[in-house]
Amino acid sequence: MPSILAKMKGRIQDLLHYNFLISQLTCLMSFMSKLSNNYRTHTCGELNIKQVGNQVTLCGWVQKSRILGGLTFIDLRDRYGITQLAFNTEVNKNLSEQAGELGREFVVQVIGVVRERQSKNKNISTGDIEIEVNEINILDQCETPPFTIEDKSDGGEEIRMKYRYLDLRRGPLQRNILLRHRVAQEVRNYLSNQEFLEIETPFLIKSTPEGARDFVVPSRMNQGQFYALPQSPQTFKQLLMVGGFDRYFQIVKCFRDEDLRADRQPEFTQIDCEMSFVKQEDVRDIFEELVRHLFKKIKNVDLDKFPVMSYQDAMRFYGSDKPDLRFDMKFVEINELAKNKGFNVFDQSELVVGIKVDSCAEYTRKQLDELTDFVRKPQIGGKGLVYVKCNEDGSFKSSVDKFFDQDALKKWADAFNAKPGDLILIVSGDVNQSRQVLCELRLEMGNQLGLRDKDTFKPLWVNDFPLLEWDEESKRHHALHHPFTSYLKNEAELKKIEEGNLTGLISDAYDMVINGVEIGGGSIRITDKDVQARMLDWLGFSPEEARAQFGFLMDAFKYGTPPHGGIAFGFDRVCALFGGSDSIRDFIAFPKNNSGRDVMLDAPSAIAGEQLDELGLNLKKNE
Ligand code: AMO
Repeated sequence: MPSILAKMKGRIQDLLHYNFLISQLTCLMSFMSKLSNNYRTHTCGELNIKQVGNQVTLCGWVQKSRILGGLTFIDLRDRYGITQLAFNTEVNKNLSEQAGELGREFVVQVIGVVRERQSKNKNISTGDIEIEVNEINILDQCETPPFTIEDKSDGGEEIRMKYRYLDLRRGPLQRNILLRHRVAQEVRNYLSNQEFLEIETPFLIKSTPEGARDFVVPSRMNQGQFYALPQSPQTFKQLLMVGGFDRYFQIVKCFRDEDLRADRQPEFTQIDCEMSFVKQEDVRDIFEELVRHLFKKIKNVDLDKFPVMSYQDAMRFYGSDKPDLRFDMKFVEINELAKNKGFNVFDQSELVVGIKVDSCAEYTRKQLDELTDFVRKPQIGGKGLVYVKCNEDGSFKSSVDKFFDQDALKKWADAFNAKPGDLILIVSGDVNQSRQVLCELRLEMGNQLGLRDKDTFKPLWVNDFPLLEWDEESKRHHALHHPFTSYLKNEAELKKIEEGNLTGLISDAYDMVINGVEIGGGSIRITDKDVQARMLDWLGFSPEEARAQFGFLMDAFKYGTPPHGGIAFGFDRVCALFGGSDSIRDFIAFPKNNSGRDVMLDAPSAIAGEQLDELGLNLKKNE
């Protein structure tokens, strides 16, 4: 009996082992067959020492070749990596000559055998092997490319934009586009698991004000009339809530005709989201979790709970509604200690405010002059800079020694919580301007002292923004977020409305900020047609204008509207943050340049007379 049992056990183990092998083999075959086809058996990034002796077929671009005596080496590149090809004149003279004649960026197919390399390259995954080639097929030739297609290219920005498809072949851009894909996948996974539905909304719409100008599209069938491209799908996502889809998202193109910067493009992508039956905390919770999920999956970084800071505190302590919390240097206001002590500049200022820079009392005269020049730059707009050095011996040295004695400076140092060895930098002026100047100086000090590390991530929520701001030029209120944002529903706000204190109203809006970049923003929406009408009135729309532009939304609000709110993330900004870059352009396959041009397509461009005729836009003819 025991021997039968033992046999059965052995047989079961064999079977299990067999099954395991089969499953491994199936896995391997499915992996191998993923990319193997009539052209290639493997990619240029996957072969290693385990395949030594196998015959393989690879396809790719010739990155560079080296001829060393009778040996020719070629780096063959595709999306997955680089594999070294080897040719030996003594083994096959014709083939070696053929290899020597291959130009940069030729597209070739090679058949050969994997062999272990003599001198290994530890920097690449295929660095242990090379292919001893016995057949080359040229799939396409290449003219000399306008710049070198390697990780570090010799091409300037403009030329690389013109030949963007060549720039895209380079490692850094390949990695960025791959990163973008992974982030999009993770966003979809996470939100789908949370019951969000991805729903598309139209691009040819009526204007949705988000604070920028619209790009417009003339209508041929309705001459003289125009569609606007969406600045965001804002009104549509709200209508989807009325439509009963209580959790919506979309990775979607938005179009804004505004001045461009490193983190702004005229067409950019949002992760746009909306939810019904939620309050601000609910929205913040779920999207904080989304961002935490992305950080874990993409960067393997665990983030703590995000702090929430009011707009007022953000402005007061950092001079910005998007504070960079990777370093401290919180603003300290010293009006009480600095004004009315005989120093005219401070006496005439609304605000005297400064930062403490740890351990920088040793800054030289030259360094301090440079900081003064920095704040005086026209784009910064400061008038000057006052410094106090907290010397190691407990004394103080300042640029305003004439007006403030050691006792007075000691009081300043206490206010800043400064210790011997620290440096205090102070600016003054009207409130907004001095905060702006000090914000720039704080960031500059952060840069100089290496405190803005790209691999440290400090997120926060900023909320309690003003609902409206007064624009002196147009003599109108503007919505700080957009016209569909609700004010906080509390007694204080209702009182402000009664008193006509509109600029004092606080909105139910929130921004997500990471490392000083506004990654996303959203709000709880107005869902009552009368409140919406009143908001549009505050924004200077006549009832007729409001009806013409937003009648559809206010009509929808008549038919059972759930309370709702949402957020949109700047997808390109999220990718740039993960990729450690300040420029979103590097994460967009075909971006525009700083003047909003596509230099590859040469767009925008004039269109033919007939096209203008068809659209009823031929102004000359119409005259
Ligand atoms: P908002 O206008 O704040 O909100 O935009 C949301 C996020 O989009 C990104 N962003 C941009 N990214 C690149 N280029 C641009 N030109 C650009 N403009 C904005 C920013 C910003 O935080 N409909 C509302 C959202 C809502 O209320 O739900 C909206 O669009 O990262």
